Formats: sequence, structure tokens, C-alpha cells
Amino acid sequence: MRFLLSRLAALSLLLVSCAAPTPTAAPTLPPTSTTAPSPAPSPTVLPPYRDPSLPVEARIDDLLARMTLEDKLGQMTQVEKGAMKLGDVAPYRIGSVLSGGGGSPLQNDPAGWVRMTGNFQQRALETPLQIPVLYGVDAVHGHNNLLNATIFPHNIGLGAANDPDLARRIARATAIEMMATGIPWNFAPTIAVPQDIRWGRTYEGFSENTEIVTRLGAAYIEGLQAFPDGYVPAPGQTLFVAATPKHFLGDGGTLWETSKTPGYRLDQGDMQMDDAAVRALFLPPYRAAVQSGALVVMASYSSWNGVKMHAHRYLLTDVLKGELGFRGLVVSDWQAVDQIYPGDLYRSIVTAINAGVDMVMVPTDYLTFLRHLRAAVERGDIPPERIDDAVRRILRVKFALGLFERPAPLGQEETLAAFQARIRSPEHLALAREAVRKSLVLLKNEGQTLPLDKNTPLIFVAGEGAVNLARQTGGWTVDWQGKEGFRTAGTTLLQALQAAIGPQTRVVFDKTGQFAAEKDENGQPLKADVGLVVLAEFPYAEGAGDSASLTLPNEDLQALRALRERADRVVVVIFSGRPVIITDLLPLAEAWVAAWLPGSEGAGVTDVLFGDAPFTGKLPYTWPRRVEQLPMNIHNAAGKTGCDGPLFPFGYGLTTEELSPVILECD
Ligand code: BGC
Ligand code: BGC
Repeated sequence: MRFLLSRLAALSLLLVSCAAPTPTAAPTLPPTSTTAPSPAPSPTVLPPYRDPSLPVEARIDDLLARMTLEDKLGQMTQVEKGAMKLGDVAPYRIGSVLSGGGGSPLQNDPAGWVRMTGNFQQRALETPLQIPVLYGVDAVHGHNNLLNATIFPHNIGLGAANDPDLARRIARATAIEMMATGIPWNFAPTIAVPQDIRWGRTYEGFSENTEIVTRLGAAYIEGLQAFPDGYVPAPGQTLFVAATPKHFLGDGGTLWETSKTPGYRLDQGDMQMDDAAVRALFLPPYRAAVQSGALVVMASYSSWNGVKMHAHRYLLTDVLKGELGFRGLVVSDWQAVDQIYPGDLYRSIVTAINAGVDMVMVPTDYLTFLRHLRAAVERGDIPPERIDDAVRRILRVKFALGLFERPAPLGQEETLAAFQARIRSPEHLALAREAVRKSLVLLKNEGQTLPLDKNTPLIFVAGEGAVNLARQTGGWTVDWQGKEGFRTAGTTLLQALQAAIGPQTRVVFDKTGQFAAEKDENGQPLKADVGLVVLAEFPYAEGAGDSASLTLPNEDLQALRALRERADRVVVVIFSGRPVIITDLLPLAEAWVAAWLPGSEGAGVTDVLFGDAPFTGKLPYTWPRRVEQLPMNIHNAAGKTGCDGPLFPFGYGLTTEELSPVILECD
């Protein structure tokens, strides 16, 4: 009880300091609990590392000098929240906890998240040095593990919009929704430059074009890290939410069938090209990311000419930390260190740390990891300077986030409440809707079918995707793979359509496209003025989404064929994480729209279908005619035309004023 009271007193102190931060008035944290072997710092004399008026490097020097080997190794350890025993946080000095894809507290609402992250934080502060824990999450299109968050389009849609300011604003909104749950670290953005759209992570990348990725990635990082208007940073704080450009390097450059991960085809596979090509294609986004102040980079599961990135000293240490001058931390990917030498964890850990990995996403068996890491230091397989360098980098991020002054989410009741009020706020929903509008690409518009008239008397709507938010949001939404049937807040395309139409318009939905019940007065099948069908990929993430065929679900194709018979004009909207093969289907509809994975705000699609906003999106990836052409991208499609060329080239996208091009039939 006494402990609790003193902690509450300390928390209110923290709160005061949040409201009026002055470098000298930084509060002393509560005395350490029972686990603390050393005396607590005296309330009047701050140890230098607690003094935010000192330069960060001086604070780190001071703190490092006080740390035991256990303290240091714990800092290098990142554990998945489900595997992390609360009672182990302090004794093992755990430095970081994460939620994996879909990982959430049982009570998946802001209060549940704050309680969970707060519990870990409280334990971390019970250690002698009270080094705060850093909690990380994949908020890759909004704070997507949080139920009822604002879900923005996946990055492929932002690539089609190609608007850096939009990316920056989305990142800021995402950061605010994260901070509403006490989380200051985002494993985003993915700044891959995917070269083969068969990859299950194509949609996580902005584009196959290096320049677009470089620009949007940098803007996104700035949006996460800059303080939002009105936010009062802690003394010494320089980052709002830490970004993690990933996955270093060349995750989007692996070749088909080079993956050694069971069931995967090219995700986590091997990139085979020379140094100059790798640098030209994949390095510029990282250079820009470092210049934008990114302080974390995640290593890639993949390999380069057979060498795992997690073991790649040249890339991680010489290029990233040396040439690019990256001073932050390199975090490994989920259990990726284990893949270096399968079956030999000790050697894998030694290799990864010596190559330049600073923090290991273990993510579950942290006791074994710590045992190996300690042994490696004791045997001299990992030099102590490497450990100190890794810890220095980790502490740099924690200081930059102001965690020592404000150990999120503890003691931040007011700011938390203010941020929570912004989850799915009208402002965030309007931003998501704007992003959807700008991401749509008009592929075909015969007879200027689009825009549609809001007073069209009868509209038939078909396709599961029109009513199923999981198809509209894709992977990395509430669940890792984005499983069907979850409930999160949002507007489906059908709901958006119903809200948009005039009072005289009748909209009927039949997912099969058959509309058997719709007959005229003579009992004949009724024909709609407009048929709208959604063709939607099933949700997927990572290698589970690697696809040899890039086909759409059969039911959807049947719905399109059925609807064709029942509507004068047909409009297709595609929900997909990449271009899919539609060459033979094109004649079945007058208008085709690529909507990517737009997220929770379906009204952005109808805004454009009805002409309230123009089509402005351009293809961020080359759209092939046949899978046999793959990999096909701006580099190898150059100069290929007609039947050898793409169905739609990179950068293509019509406006409603333009005439549809004639599409060649090819066998
Ligand atoms: C986790 C993901 C992780 C994946 C790696 C899943 O169980 O939820 O976050 O990326 O495993 O294989
Ligand atoms: C993915 C990363 C992700 C991590 C944590 C991995 O499987 O490759 O992108 O950040 O899991 O969820």
C-alpha cells in the first residue's frame, strides 16, 4: 500500500511535469520496489542520466556506466506480449515488448491497451535503474490491431495517390491513435520496393518505383515522429512516435521460389543482383529515412546472394550505420535470427549481433535467448564494445521518445484521454476517406460510364467484397492475416452506396449477381440500369499471400458474369493488394476501378464513383496481362508493347474526361 501511494504521488508529479515541462523541474521517479538492490536515487540530486537538461550522449554515458551486464542484455531483448511473464520483466531487465500481427489485449479497447502496456511499464520501472520499457506494434495502415481504429488504405493505395503530404497526415493520425493506447513505437513504414507483384507483401509497399517509395516513406516517417499541434513534449524529447522503416534491405527484390520458409514462394527468399543494382533500387528510401530522423530500422528476413540480411555485416554495419550514418537501433524481425543457422541458435545470435542487430525480436523464448547471449559475451564471442554500442543505440531511442521523463502510458491520464477522443474522430475519418478517393485508379471507362448518376433508378450490387469489411481492409487488420468475419467499425461499399444515392434510387444486393427475386410485372428478370460488382482477393499477409496465379475468387467471377446479364452497364471495383489478372474479364464490364485495400472508409470509393471527387490515382505497379510475364515491372517492361507489354503500364490511370484506350486481345 505504501508503495502504491508513493507511486501515485510520483505519477501526479509526472502529470504536472507533462503540463508544464521545464528542464529543471523533472520529477524523480518513485523509489524502486522490492526488486531494487541498490538505494534509490536521492530526490534532490538527480543522477546525470535523469537530467534532461544534459546532452543525450552524456546521459547515455552515465547510464551505461551504471548498468550491469544483465541490464544491458535485457535491453537487447524484445518479447511478444503473450509470451512475456509480467513477473519476469524486472528480474530479466526486459527492454522491449511487442504485439505481433493481430496481438491485442483481451479487452481490445483503448483502456485495455493502456492497462496492458502500463503493466509492463510499471514492472520495468521497478528495476534499480528504472529504464522504461519500449512497446512496439505494427500500425501499418492505422492502428490496425486496435478494434475500431481508423483503418487507412494500405500503402499500395498511398502509392497510387502519390501525395507525400497525405502520407504525412495519415502517419500523424496513426501516431495519435497509437499514443491513445500508450504505444510510442511503430514497425512502419514498409519501404520495400517490390519488383514482383506475386509477393504477398506487395500492398505493404508504396510502389515498384524507388523514387515514389523514397518520397512517401520519408513523409510517413516525418508524420509519425513530429509532434502534433498542441502537444507539449517532455523535456529533451525529440520524437513523438518512433518509426521503423523496414525491411532492410531488398525485401522486395527476392526471386520466385527462392524462399526456404515452408509454404512461402518468394517472401523471405533470396535477392540475386550486384551491389550497384541493390544500391540503386533499394537504398535510396533508407538514405532518405535516415535523413528524416528515423531511429529504428528493421532487418529483413530475406537474403542477398544467399547471405541472410540478419547476418549481413556489410549491409547492416558498413552501409547502414557507416555510410548512411544511422545512429539508431537495428531490430531483428520476428524469430528471424533463428533462421541464420537453423538448429544452432547460439551461433545465429552471435552472428546477428556481430553483424549489427541491436535488439532481437526473440519473440517468445527469452530465457533461452538471454542464456545464449550471456554465454556469448562471457566466452568473448561477442565483444563487450558491441554490446555497449547496441545498448547505446537502444537508449538513444528511449531518450528521444522522452520515456525517462514520461514512461508511456503511466501518469499520462490527460494526454491519453485527449488522444483517445481522436480515435475515429470525424477528422480522422475524413482523412481516411480523402486517402481512399485519391488512391483509386480508373482502368477502363467505356462510353464514359463513370461517373454514375446518383439518381440512377435501379442499381444491382454483387460480390462478397461489397458487404465484407475484411475484404476491404485486407491483412494486418485486427488479425495478422486479416481473417474474415471480424467486426470492426467502418463503412462497406454497399453502405456507402446506400448513403450516397438520391431518394428515388433503388439499390439491391445479391452477392451472387443473380437477383432471382427481381422480376418485372410480367415475371421477366428485371434489368438494372447499373450493375456494380466488387471483385476482391481474400485477405492475406506476408508469405501466405505469395501467389502464382494472381486470380480472384471464383464466386466473384461468377457474380460478374451473372450480373452482366442483368444490367445495362456494369462497373467493377477491385479490392486487391496488387494488380491481379483480369485480361479476359475486361470486356465483361464497361468500367473498371482498382481500389486496392482501401480500409474502413468505403465512402471514399462512392465519392469518386458518383463524381463528387475526380479520379486522380495512377498505377504504382505495372499491371501484367498474364502471370507468365512475371516478374514484370518498370525496369523489365520498358520498351515492351502490344501483347508482350503490360495490360496497363506503370503510371497509368484515366480521368473520366478521357476516352478508354483500346485494349488488344492477345493469346
Ligand atoms: C505473428 C506476426 C508475425 C508472424 C511471423 C505471427 O504469429 O502474429 O506478428 O509477423 O507470426 O511469422
Ligand atoms: C513481419 C514484420 C513485423 C513483425 C512483427 C514479422 O513477421 O515481417 O514486418 O513487424 O512480424 O509483427
